[in-house]
Amino acid sequence: MSPNFLVCWEKFARYFEVELKEVKLTEGYYVMDPVKAVEMVDENTICVAAILGSTLNGEFEDVKLLNDLLVEKNKQTGWDTPIHVDAASGGFIAPFLYPELEWDFRLPLVKSINVSGHKYGLVYAGIGWCIWRSKEDLPDELIFHINYLGADQPTFTLNFSKGSSQVIAQYYQLIRLGFEGYKNVMENCRENAMVLKEGLEKTGRFNIVSKDKGVPLVAFSLKDSSIHTEFEISDILRRFGWIVPAYTMPPDAQHITVLRVVIREDFSRTLAERLINDIKKVLHELDTLPSRVTAKLTGSEEMTSENNGKTVKKTTIEVQREITAAWKKILLDKKTNGVC
Ligand SMILES: Cc1ncc(COP(=O)(O)O)c(C=O)c1O
Repeated sequence: MSPNFLVCWEKFARYFEVELKEVKLTEGYYVMDPVKAVEMVDENTICVAAILGSTLNGEFEDVKLLNDLLVEKNKQTGWDTPIHVDAASGGFIAPFLYPELEWDFRLPLVKSINVSGHKYGLVYAGIGWCIWRSKEDLPDELIFHINYLGADQPTFTLNFSKGSSQVIAQYYQLIRLGFEGYKNVMENCRENAMVLKEGLEKTGRFNIVSKDKGVPLVAFSLKDSSIHTEFEISDILRRFGWIVPAYTMPPDAQHITVLRVVIREDFSRTLAERLINDIKKVLHELDTLPSRVTAKLTGSEEMTSENNGKTVKKTTIEVQREITAAWKKILLDKKTNGVC
């Protein structure tokens, strides 16, 4: 689950005084294992939330399997545990790219779905919504009724007054693009994601941690991060005008750091090729830096560093001096080449 989204869930759980349980990741996987999730369900579980399009690597969780296992468990126990699908990104991708994928109200236990219009709905920031399977699935006591605007207005929002421009923009996009238009946009995004993925693979330096089926994004990590890290790549890419975040994966996979490029409709094939070239330049630049320039802080004053293949201990200040000298050298070299 994405860190910001987890915070939302935690607030929600506190507000409604419910416990939030997170399914531990299975080694080598980055999304919820439905078997483990259903094992954790007990008589107090109000719902299981699945994500269609992980924030971290774009992968779709297996909502169909979750539904089938939960149907079985509900039958055995007499409970009635439903599913909420967080389709923030996937809600605007799966219907167009994978129409056969069952993740929505085709599955009987899916009672509510949220989607962000400002992601693949193609509207500027600030719009998202939640829909319920039926009126009965949204308890009436959660809805405010107001009539001071002239008629009964039911509202179930966390924010109250809000401009309607985004709703209009969303409506415009839906009418303007239609199913075919969204399908074309999503197909294009997927193709450009593939171009980027293949270009990164060709460098031979990265493991791809996103899946071909999922949100059109490419999440990748260095095959060898013992000398330079993904954070350095992210930093240097900024100089080329790219903001490519580097972050660690969630608990149980924290040892993995990834870089992530989300492909939106305005990310063209030309941009994909340019990014690949810039990443190659960054790798080349990093290769000229002394090894272990970003040796991890051990918490003590001592750090390890490599020198001609030998591991030597250095104080933090020594390592910092080494890093500064290395950067100075790069900048000087650049200046003398007239590249700057
Ligand atoms: C899976 C998932 N759910 C929810 C959110 C939050 O959505 P919004 O930006 O519409 O609040 C995100 C945003 O990154 C997300 O990736």
